Amino acid sequence: MLNIKIEKTNTPKELPGVDNPLKFGTIFTDHMFIMNYETGKGWYDPRVVPYQPISLEPSAMVFHYGQEMFEGLKAYKTADGRTLLFRPIKNVERANKTNRRICIPEIPEEDFIQALKTVVKVDEAWIPTKEGTSLYIRPFVIATDPFLGVRPSNQYLFMIILSPVGAYYPEGLNPVKIWIEDEYVRAVKGGIGEAKTGGNYVASLRSQVKAHEEGYSQVLWLDGVDRKYIEEVGAMNIFFKIDGRIVTPELNGSILPGVTRDSVIGLCNEWGIPLEERKISIDEIYDAYQKGTLEEVFGTGTAAVISPVGQLRWEQNIMQVQDGSIGPISQKLYDTITGIQLGKIKDTHNWTVEV
Ligand code: COI
Repeated sequence: MLNIKIEKTNTPKELPGVDNPLKFGTIFTDHMFIMNYETGKGWYDPRVVPYQPISLEPSAMVFHYGQEMFEGLKAYKTADGRTLLFRPIKNVERANKTNRRICIPEIPEEDFIQALKTVVKVDEAWIPTKEGTSLYIRPFVIATDPFLGVRPSNQYLFMIILSPVGAYYPEGLNPVKIWIEDEYVRAVKGGIGEAKTGGNYVASLRSQVKAHEEGYSQVLWLDGVDRKYIEEVGAMNIFFKIDGRIVTPELNGSILPGVTRDSVIGLCNEWGIPLEERKISIDEIYDAYQKGTLEEVFGTGTAAVISPVGQLRWEQNIMQVQDGSIGPISQKLYDTITGIQLGKIKDTHNWTVEV
């Protein structure tokens, strides 16, 4: 059990009003969690302090070699005033999996959960309650050793910051347009694609800029070897409904194992909807589109929740899905998952954890 010191701010900021659109990732709460690490000493000095800039040496290793892990989860306020986290243990387990992959020391699971609960409790008043909003929680670790040479750092900072958010995409629950990338790749098996680390996201920027210029919100990645199997969207995992069956790419080592992805698979299995995790080629998707059996496409992610896809562009081919509206399965999944998160639907899976 951590002995977390709490230093409250003397100058609290004004809370965003209910009508604030809460543009994703732009507003930060009054406090943050921070804990240091040093080789030989372990994790030490856990504290909640006022949200503020941090000071690092220009030689801090994270700036040069990108040794960094991050996570994303959300807190929700129920109608009867409870604060719930959604499946935080999945994020903690994944964080440590990322840590192992990129040689960051693991954070004991119970300490991680305690840190999450403590900082969320301190800034509980910041959890927005309007439909479609939540408090986004961003835990991350950075390598802070002042050293220019490639090896794991001996010093780290573990921090948790909080941000009241609305929808990740400006489109909200309206379908997004997705560009299928055929020039660059995001990750390959054996690389870091299944780790949640900044390097995967910087690798996506060039394509994202190109997609934006063409009027598309996001990029759908194909595999890095055959350049034909569907992987993920970077900010979300992807699902297709083809002829009554749901298919999603299997976790092959280069795809992020999403928490919402896992929840969707669990719910579909429970509802008796046929679901397959397997390799899906882009030709199979285009073929289904041409036959008229591509019934729904949606992305899943903590930030994106369930995000319907209304159009896919692959080379010169434009695939229009669901006439630009959200499909019935996507809507049911969205209603069920957000219903459980907000305590409106009975949580039979023990997915929510009260703060
Ligand atoms: C999340 O869904 O929490 C993520 O980390 C995706 C990120 C690109 C916002």
